Formats: sequence, C-alpha cells, structure tokens
Amino acid sequence: MSGESLFLGPMPLSMKPYKGTRDFYPRDKKFLRFLAEKFSNILNLYGYLEYDGPMLESFDLYAAKTGQEIVETQLYHFEDRGGRKVAIRPEMTPTLARMVSAKIDELPKPIRWFSFPNLWRYERPQRGRLREHWQLNVDLLGGVNPQSEIEILSVAAELLKSLKALPFVELRVNSRAFVNFVFEKQLSLDAKQALVLEKLIDAKAKMSEVEYLGKLADLKLTDTVVEKVELYSRMGLEEALKVFACPEIEALSSVIQQINSQYGANLAVFDPTIMRGLDYYTGMVFEAFDKSPDNPRAMFGGGRYDNLVGLFHEKKQLSGVGFGMGDVVLSQFLETHGLMPDLGQDLDVYVAYQSDDFQSSAQKISIQLREKHFLSVVVSQEAQKIKSAFKSANRLDSTSVILLSEDEFSRNCFVWKNLSSGEQIELPIEGFLAQSSFKSALEKLKKS
Ligand code: HAM
Repeated sequence: MSGESLFLGPMPLSMKPYKGTRDFYPRDKKFLRFLAEKFSNILNLYGYLEYDGPMLESFDLYAAKTGQEIVETQLYHFEDRGGRKVAIRPEMTPTLARMVSAKIDELPKPIRWFSFPNLWRYERPQRGRLREHWQLNVDLLGGVNPQSEIEILSVAAELLKSLKALPFVELRVNSRAFVNFVFEKQLSLDAKQALVLEKLIDAKAKMSEVEYLGKLADLKLTDTVVEKVELYSRMGLEEALKVFACPEIEALSSVIQQINSQYGANLAVFDPTIMRGLDYYTGMVFEAFDKSPDNPRAMFGGGRYDNLVGLFHEKKQLSGVGFGMGDVVLSQFLETHGLMPDLGQDLDVYVAYQSDDFQSSAQKISIQLREKHFLSVVVSQEAQKIKSAFKSANRLDSTSVILLSEDEFSRNCFVWKNLSSGEQIELPIEGFLAQSSFKSALEKLKKS
C-alpha cells in the first residue's frame, strides 16, 4: 500500500460544502432552533399556525409570479426522471398561495400562518447573501385592510423586540399601489414602463450613480419625467401627502402613524424607493433595515399581494400580506449589536465513576435525572479518575458533574458539583431525589 492513495481519485475529496451552502455544526443548529422556537412562541401568541410544504415545486409555480431576477438567474431547477420541470423553492410565498388555494373554501378566514423553511437561490455568495438560507414567513390572508398591514408590522416589531433588536431597526415602508398611481397617473408611464422603472429604483442601491443614470436613460423618458422621478425618490411623507393627496398615500400614512404610536416615534418611515424585487406585491411593501451601516442589506421584507391565489382559481381571490425574515442577515445583525443570545451550556450533568463496580449506580442516577427532571445527562463510558472526569465535563460543556468515587460510594453516596458556582453536595444513591439539598441544588443548576 505504501505511497498509494486510499482515495478513489488522484486527490482526496474536498471537505468544504458546496459553495454558498452551510454546514450546521451543533452550535449553529442550536442557534437556528433557538430562533425557530422564539419565533413560534411569539407567533402562537398572535394566533398564527405553523405550516410547511415541499422543497420541490413545479417550475411553473415560480415562472408565474416570483420575478424575473430569481427565475432567470437564481432558481435551481432540473428535469426529473419523468421529464417534469422541477424547481427547488427559492421562496415560500408561491407554495403558501398554492396550499391555501387548494383548500380555499374550507379554511377559516382570515388565515394566519407561519413557516420556517430552508430556501435556495443561486446567488453570488457574499455578506448577507448565501445560496441556502432559512426564512421565517409570516402571512395573513383574507383579512381586512389596513388592520392586516398593521397586524403584520406589529408582529414583525414583536419579533424584533423579543431579540432586543427594536431600537436598532427601521421599517422602511412604501406602497406599490401608490407608486403605480404616481408613475402611471401622474407621470403618464404605461404599466410596462412603470414596472421597469420600479425595478430600476429597487436595484439602485446595488449600482453606481453612473450605472443607474445610464439605465434610466435607456428607458427613454423625457427630461421632465426623469426630474420628477428624482423628486419622487427623495420625497418625505409630509410632502408626498401634500403633493399627491391620493387615498393610497393616505392609507399608508395612517398605517405608519399607528405603528409608530404603538412602538415609538420612528420605527416605521416612509421610503419612496422601497419597491421589493418580487413581482406579486400590489399594496403596502416594506423592508426592515439595520440603522447601522455595517449591515446594509434588508433583514426582512414583505408586503401585500392581491393576486396570488387568483393564479389557481379563475374566479376566486384572496388578498394576503406577509413578510420573510432570513436567518443569515439576522444573525449578522445580532452579532453587530452584541445581541447574540446565550444559548446555554450543552449538558446539565456529566456522570463519572471511579471503578467499573459503580457503573450501574451511575446509570440508575442518570435515568432518574432524565426522567424526573428532564436534565440532559451523559454517563462516562469507562471508569475515570477525578481529574479526568472534570476534563471530560468541561469538554462536553457540562454545567455540573456527578462523581461516584471510592470514599462516597462506600457510604452509599455520591457527590454532585455545580461547575459554575463551585458548590458541591453529597447525596445518598437511594432516594436522592427527595432530599431538600438536591432540590435546592437543582434550582441553582437550572439558573446557572
Ligand atoms: P425576499 O425579500 O426575497 O422576500 O426575502 C426575504 C428575506 O430573506 C430577505 O430580506 C433576506 O433576509 C432573506 N434572504 C433572501 N435571499 C437570501 C439569500 N440568498 N441569502 C440569505 N438571506 C436571504 C421573499 O422571499 C418573500 N417571499 C417574503 C414574503 C412572505 N412576502 C410575503 N410573504
């Protein structure tokens, strides 16, 4: 064998995951679970129910509405063995619309649903953008306008609050209905020109001024229209209300006012350049941004969509409003602001024994701790000296150690030591659960 490779090819296989995808080592997975649990606890308080759908959908589902950029450049798709064109989900909203449509008559309205799917987009991996991410989706369908908008923004604010993130975030809000009113009715653009202009403004932040102006010139708009577009892009809410005085901006203004009166003066701000890259939005749209320039990408975004269910039913409509919040930008945001949660230690108790004769008692103690107190307990696989037992406990990130050593065992006892406080107690092997010293040590362990 000398000199021969054990591997099949000339080179060993790469240990890196496929570009832009992620390995979740236990700590990473714990963080993801923490987020999922936190989100679902809050959403349950608001009456939102969890749903899920398949990872694979028909290509046509996305081709219909998801938006050119995602479908043409980011969708993972292939032909299955039966010749069907299939795509890996890049977002959840089309699946939601399909599932709701399939049971539209039986589902009680309004529908309040959430999901935390794994999504795939063929992006150029960079800060805040990967090819794989997990995205909390919260949607309310068939509700009343503008109460639904207010509820969805409130839920978003509550999620941020639960992560202590609220003071660092701004919700930038606009309305596609308002934009259409301005571009079509005031600037006399046709619907197609208006859509191209909306997309250009949406992408403006990602390009240089020269590139933006070049693309604007390509639209062949008159100088007066270009000037008005620039004025529009810089408009504040007061001015927009005064200049346009249309129901669309008035409705948006009252949503902004209500959110700010609930959560503080400047959480929601009007931003005429928020368009959203996806094609299906028809009403209010919003994106949440970190106020700090370290994280220039949107943490989450969403809005109202009137016509998604209509893709599946000729005669039925069900308007929805919702948002998607990705885990990648969110965790970068939490790191930037020192808000990463304390995920706790990995293990509650490490049980070690000095002689193989004590092994079965060690097992019995650990079974009782798991069954009666739901503690996570690992028992050593072999007899250990005290020093090595502490080393193992530290390596396993355990909060405490139980030691069955010669001295205590000869008195039918064991020692339980809390590693963060240093306190230790001696307990009888039989009936230790009933001891008051056990109960108070348990309380302290749970707090540490
Ligand atoms: P979206 O703006 O495409 O909306 O994505 C929502 C959020 O998901 C983004 O703000 C970002 O945090 C995260 N995200 C998106 N793509 C990536 C990526 N490649 N890497 C990391 N994070 C990413 C939607 O998907 C809509 N379907 C949301 C929605 C739900 N609208 C209504 N309901």
